[in-house]
Amino acid sequence: MKKKIFITRKPPEHVLNNLQKLFEVEIWNSEDIEIPRNELLHIIHKFDGLLCLLTESIDEELLDKGRNLKVISNLAVGYNNIHIEDAISRGIMVTNTPGVLTETTADLTFALMLAASRRLVEASHALREGKWKTWSPMFMTGMDVHGSTLGIIGLGEIGAAVARRAKGFNMKLMYYSRSRKPEFEAELDIEYADLHTLLQTSDYVCILTPFTKDTKNLITMNELKLMKNTAVLINTARGGIVNEFDLIQALSDGVIWGAGLDVYEHEPLPLDHPLLQFPNVVTLPHIGSASIQTRTKMWELAAKNITLALQGKTPPNLVSRLK
Ligand code: DGY
Repeated sequence: MKKKIFITRKPPEHVLNNLQKLFEVEIWNSEDIEIPRNELLHIIHKFDGLLCLLTESIDEELLDKGRNLKVISNLAVGYNNIHIEDAISRGIMVTNTPGVLTETTADLTFALMLAASRRLVEASHALREGKWKTWSPMFMTGMDVHGSTLGIIGLGEIGAAVARRAKGFNMKLMYYSRSRKPEFEAELDIEYADLHTLLQTSDYVCILTPFTKDTKNLITMNELKLMKNTAVLINTARGGIVNEFDLIQALSDGVIWGAGLDVYEHEPLPLDHPLLQFPNVVTLPHIGSASIQTRTKMWELAAKNITLALQGKTPPNLVSRLK
């Protein structure tokens, strides 16, 4: 009898076809609407494997109901939506999709830095709103990226890929991470600093660290106040790492110069959210890895992970070593 898997969003045709050859597959047949939580809770007991997105909270309640689950394959590199310890204690494997999205997410991070510093979104709106009356020396002037200092919080693969791009802009590089990264220090001429020093010294602070209980609220008003008032904060990791209430206050008070955000404490961001009121904040809808090529590769990798796990093999991207 074929094992059963559930996929919480519509995958590309070829991914679905391949999975259907091996498994009995049910999907939530939508590309842009999440499966209601109650629905997932109601059906999850039927499945051996779950291929899910960061929009699904895989917590104790869901794991209790998913009594037949052997693997949860997350279509993301981040897996803060999954209660890993609870999954491990039930003998459920958890996998993610690292590697394939590194360069694409670094591209977006750098784009966000350029967009925020040079006011690209604001300038484009100004033109369309008829505010471009003449060439004017100080109209839409922003901050230079080239030659400035970039501080990266969380120097993993994506952080290193951002640093490589920054070298092309002749930026001075520093990083703060849980542990020193000698291989990147040697390759990138990037200097390790404590968080305090990094915040005080950087013109751009990029957050690229995973969201864990240790990084939750890593950046509050105390940290924002350490930053230069000409500095720009970029977050393409997870919303909860920056305390949003404090960020809004800091932007209102001119504590920092601007921000580029792809992620938020609660997603999607409601249209009346205060962060959407600031002209000096570029706000994107969590599209860090959103290129056609990369999202396709993420689907393929997530499918490979769930397949190997259900075939009794070790999937390549196991984040939960079973005890
Ligand atoms: C991830 O992979 O964790 C992203 O946030 C989605 O690409």
